[in-house]
Amino acid sequence: LKGAFDDYMLKEIHEQPEALGRLLEPLRGPGAPGRAPLGRGARNGSRTLPNGRGTSEAQVAGLRWLPELPTNVDEVWFVACGTAYHAARLAASYTDELADLPSRAELASEFRYGQPRVGPRSLVVVISQSGETADTLGALREAQRLGAPTVAVVNVEGSTIGREADQVLPLRAGDEIAVASTKAFTAQVVAGLLLALRLGQARGVLRPERSGGILEGLRLLPEQVAAMLAVQEARMQELATRWRDRRDLFFIGRGRDLAVAMEGQLKLKEISYLHAEALAGGELKHGTLSLITEGVPVVGLATQPDLAVKMAGNLQETRSRGAEVLVVVGPEAEGVTELAFMSVVLPQGVDPLLRPVLAVVPLQLLAYAVAKGRGLDVDKPRNLAKSVTVE
Ligand code: M6R
Repeated sequence: LKGAFDDYMLKEIHEQPEALGRLLEPLRGPGAPGRAPLGRGARNGSRTLPNGRGTSEAQVAGLRWLPELPTNVDEVWFVACGTAYHAARLAASYTDELADLPSRAELASEFRYGQPRVGPRSLVVVISQSGETADTLGALREAQRLGAPTVAVVNVEGSTIGREADQVLPLRAGDEIAVASTKAFTAQVVAGLLLALRLGQARGVLRPERSGGILEGLRLLPEQVAAMLAVQEARMQELATRWRDRRDLFFIGRGRDLAVAMEGQLKLKEISYLHAEALAGGELKHGTLSLITEGVPVVGLATQPDLAVKMAGNLQETRSRGAEVLVVVGPEAEGVTELAFMSVVLPQGVDPLLRPVLAVVPLQLLAYAVAKGRGLDVDKPRNLAKSVTVE
């Protein structure tokens, strides 16, 4: 089942273009590259746009294959655990911006026992690869008890969470076997963006040029992920050889990049057993800078144009204390690469909203290569289960 790959995790990392192609099939058309040979059709009510470009209006109308979302809400909550929570943070930022609704992400374990102030005018979206995570299911039931309309974003369609939510958006990423979630994460991020577009459209707050540009970007995304994989795999192996026996690694970002930093650090520590920590760039000076000394590995994310200058300042602070910096940056922030001994520069023309999907790929490859280099069981890290069905 692993085919040509040593581990399920590596296979699943490489399946991302295909998985995203399947999720985006109603936008890209059935013949688009990246489509799985045996991919199933979209759910009921789906509408496939012809392959190629349509008008912006047609593209937005093409979102009707997504679940119908209530428009009479005042806020949106995205609730999840682990990796899915990192996707939830991005989904909340998308909804805030595109649907013009106050949106937040919350850990399911905090939501369910935190007396959340949600009700009929709060849309609660739960995100779960397995659809069986105990805390996420508990949070869904709590939201329903409080009268909130609910949507589930799940990979396993027949799962308990998928069955119990009012609406479902299936990820269609295919089976994910490795404990470390990779292809489900990128699919969850794209699903979050699709829901934000759908909600923005339904509320009539999205300019057609804006949504048209994002949809066009989504069509190109699977091939861009494939290109990222092709270029970065060997580079991340090289970096892993250098970093695999370090004690602590730090992942730094701001805004959407903070969610990617959190995902990068979780992936690394979960399978390599190295200590990794993610933090917001602005928090460095409030404590963690004391741990940045000669040779400490730092992964700096600066893919969001409006925050790149601030991130450059933060990375300079780590460099001047001797940190070894890997940067993942957008093309307009290329100056930041001068601070780094290795850089990943994202391609030109990618909307900042889509950049997290590309930026996380080298971090997945790095985590895999570090764990593999340490001789560990990459697919089954100690003490962890794929599906956490108990609290
Ligand atoms: O199945 P779920 O998406 O609900 O799982 C949530 C987390 O347990 C999961 O993402 C976990 O953090 C992964 N092992 C991370 O790679």
